[in-house]
Amino acid sequence: MSQYDVIVIGAGPGGYVCAIRCAQLGLKTAVVEGRETLGGTCLNVGCIPSKALLHASHSLHEAQHNFAKMGLKGKSPSVDWKQMLAYKDDVIDGNTKGIEFLFKKNKIDWLKGWGSIPEAGKVKVGDEVHEAKNIIIASGSEPSSLPGVEVDEKVVVTSTGALELGKIPKKMVVIGAGVIGLELGSVYQRLGTEVTVIEFLNVVTPGMDGEVQKTFQRILKKQGLKFIMGAAVQKTDATKTKAKVTYKLRKDDSEHVLDADVVLVATGRRPYTEGLGLDALGIETTKGGQIKVGKDWQTNVPGIYAIGDAIDGPMLAHKAEDEGMAAAEQVAGKHGHVNYGVIPGVIYTAPEVANVGETEETLKEQGRAYKVGKFMFMGNGRAKANFASDGFVKILADKETDRILGAHIIGPAAGELIHEVCVAMEFGAAAEDLALTCHAHPTYSEAVREAALACGDGPIHS
Ligand code: NAI
Repeated sequence: MSQYDVIVIGAGPGGYVCAIRCAQLGLKTAVVEGRETLGGTCLNVGCIPSKALLHASHSLHEAQHNFAKMGLKGKSPSVDWKQMLAYKDDVIDGNTKGIEFLFKKNKIDWLKGWGSIPEAGKVKVGDEVHEAKNIIIASGSEPSSLPGVEVDEKVVVTSTGALELGKIPKKMVVIGAGVIGLELGSVYQRLGTEVTVIEFLNVVTPGMDGEVQKTFQRILKKQGLKFIMGAAVQKTDATKTKAKVTYKLRKDDSEHVLDADVVLVATGRRPYTEGLGLDALGIETTKGGQIKVGKDWQTNVPGIYAIGDAIDGPMLAHKAEDEGMAAAEQVAGKHGHVNYGVIPGVIYTAPEVANVGETEETLKEQGRAYKVGKFMFMGNGRAKANFASDGFVKILADKETDRILGAHIIGPAAGELIHEVCVAMEFGAAAEDLALTCHAHPTYSEAVREAALACGDGPIHS
């Protein structure tokens, strides 16, 4: 029986980052992981592989639509799907091996297998029981199921199956206009698939700034994605090669059927805690299956902590990473902290969509007085040169104090630009602080400054 200061269950972004920080803080650390490679959903079947396919398909789109305009002539590239998947697999391989290297460097043991917690202070992996003064559950999430829809990962797929389809489908139906549906829907649309997105609500990407939602849907429509809004999927009927999707329009209850070669189910994820033994331990969970934790990420059972998708909050890799570092610090007797008010969200489509903090909708709900500074990428020289002038930056600031309350960006490199605002918010900055900061010309980030200027005396280039 080996003894550890900490055993982390799960080697996704939450778990592996937590383990590295634990080791750096001098704690003897092990990680339990049942997959054959480290990195969890994010590296193996989520964030990283989807970004590889988004990059490849965006490059194709650029070649098809913008190369000739720049005087780059010649046959536009055709798609070698096998090679594209091999490129994606190489990217996964490089990243997962990188974590293995970091584990060795930090002297973290990888306990291979699926772990359970027979009692506080003990973790069972296979037939072996290991002792740990502290256990950190970072077991992540899995796609939630939809009644009447049976996933076979070939014709009716979750994001996992969508990342390794046998061939590029002619017709794809995506259930859910959330982050996964729109990212992967975009990939296949750019590769030539006819993509129809069926969404229960009347807006895409629920929870986001309303103006961004509308602009985002308009741009995606222009790119060729079709949308059926306000529709609830009832069931899918699949053969080995095709499927029928039955949905009801909510406005009149009428029933319709769509044919597809592939159906992507992207209707959310739920915590994955199966087999851990939470009930027997008496660990409290919510109705949705999230593990309840206190401010130090400790559950109601002393010495057992939980982080990431398995607990409350947005299911985002970087939120899990931050919790992983903070929980490690708590275990080491330090004061780990996460500022949940400043967690950015990014959708890696083209254009990208990024947000942080409050939306106009949440501010209205709270009855807070705010001002809006908005700047269109149309007025940004760099964006125009790069055929990327669709979209805008919008900064929300307190009406009285000018303190930045949120930012919403749809446009080129939005996922990078948002961090300037995140840092400003961490420092409690006013919009004027951003506006008075010299921004290099010509850069996309000038649009952030202009939006900040728009909170005051006005932007220059609009
Ligand atoms: P989501 O919660 O973002 O979107 C699900 C969508 O499905 C919602 O718009 C919902 O209204 C719709 N829906 C639910 N039931 C339906 C039905 N019966 N018929 C039609 N529409 C229905 O979930 P998604 O896209 O599956 O993503 C899961 C999680 O993974 C999210 O928490 C997301 O934040 C995370 N993720 C984040 C990424 C990023 O940050 N770039 C990338 C991929 C996933």
